[in-house]
Amino acid sequence: NLAQIGVTGLAVMGSNLARNLARHGYTVALHNRSIAKTDALLENHGDEGTFIRTESMADFVAALERPRRALIMVKAGDATDSVIEELADLMEPGDVIIDGGNSLYTDTIRREAAMSKRGLNFVGTGISGGEEGALNGPSIMPGGPAEAYESLGPLLESISAHVDGTPCCTHIGPNGSGHFVKMVHNGIEYADMQLIGEAYDLMRKALTMSTDEIADVFRQWNSGDLESYLVEITAEVLAQKDAETGKPLIDVIVDEAGQKGTGRWTVKSALDLGIPTTGIAEAVFARALSSSRDQRTAARDLASGKLAGAPTDRDRFVADINAALYASKVVAYAQGFDQIRAGSAEYDWNVDPGALATIWRGGCIIRAKFLNRIVDAYRDDPDLPSLLLAPYFREAVSAGLDSWRRVVATASTMGIPVPAFASSLSYYDGLRAERLPAALTQGLRDFFGAHTYKRVDKPGSFHTLWGEQTRTEVEV
Ligand code: 6PG
Repeated sequence: NLAQIGVTGLAVMGSNLARNLARHGYTVALHNRSIAKTDALLENHGDEGTFIRTESMADFVAALERPRRALIMVKAGDATDSVIEELADLMEPGDVIIDGGNSLYTDTIRREAAMSKRGLNFVGTGISGGEEGALNGPSIMPGGPAEAYESLGPLLESISAHVDGTPCCTHIGPNGSGHFVKMVHNGIEYADMQLIGEAYDLMRKALTMSTDEIADVFRQWNSGDLESYLVEITAEVLAQKDAETGKPLIDVIVDEAGQKGTGRWTVKSALDLGIPTTGIAEAVFARALSSSRDQRTAARDLASGKLAGAPTDRDRFVADINAALYASKVVAYAQGFDQIRAGSAEYDWNVDPGALATIWRGGCIIRAKFLNRIVDAYRDDPDLPSLLLAPYFREAVSAGLDSWRRVVATASTMGIPVPAFASSLSYYDGLRAERLPAALTQGLRDFFGAHTYKRVDKPGSFHTLWGEQTRTEVEV
């Protein structure tokens, strides 16, 4: 009896995906560099389905039916490269190698090209949902040859989360597209978490609410427009008490945020593509600032210059924060989808933003009720220039605009940092501005570097002999 799929790399994500596959009736070949993990999985969960235990990579490949499908779940980077090489040496044309790790999309492009030269199908897939999602239904973002998706797709779709009967898995496009959209997903996850953090911080510092009260607010928000996995678990994280001290656990957690890299990659790619993904960038930088322990300690006694006290109407300000969070979240998604459109154009991927929003409705970390609105927006207008221009979002943001401004203004006068709220509002104001100070930037560039500028009243490029009264313009 051969396996329909194999999983190599049985840390928690790999194990849970293997179990998910087995629970769906597939025979799953198991492989791990150290056999102990394989045996632990079989001992604890061997009765959940049909597994084939293998020790060597050769046995693993031999246990797979053809075309072989091998899912790699090892650490992104060099470890992934060496497993790919090992597998490729044992496989035959038509076989499928799937990398389910958080790989950098440019690595996936390189690997796919190398494998296709050898007649192998290489699928780089984003998988979101953490441990729980891997076991019970993640959101899956596979990129690679369409031919590979034909045989692999049904299998991945069956183990993915489902929303209204629709699987949270679709073929994203060729080569690196799956890992690219997963990268941007994580960037949006960073922005979302930073915005939630700022909302929490405002309730704590501007309204001096207790952690339990703030948990209640997030719980309530989760039954409104903000309904989402991250808002739901924020209420749970805030409600958790520390077993040792009895305090809210959040108060004993060190306020330095870690990061494994996907947020940073998103911002680097946004810079290369020239897309202002400001919400994600602020979130990445906010994590970096939080971790600058020495600087923060040295700066503790810097002046606050606080201009105002707390808002007097607590309920109103909580409602303002809700609106600011919603509007800033729309900005983060709008920017993320802009980046996906730009990446798709750059690499000829033809990513369908509506299909992507559809598979993000369930399973993944950024799953939210709000994704339905994004699906609708792209269904109504596939060429939408920005999500902010979709009628629903245009209306929703405009309804919350006063609140958004009050939140940023209050934070500023009270000296509370809100980098993501503030930069998202500035992005919105910049986007809708009739004139931007970029005209001055162009003037300065032309002044010191003869970089030329365009005129509002006629075509062409111009250079001015700055300061000369007589001849001020030279057409270039
Ligand atoms: C997901 C998560 C997952 C992981 C990130 C966290 O979609 O399931 O995004 O991929 O938790 O790696 O990234 P940081 O460690 O950088 O916060």
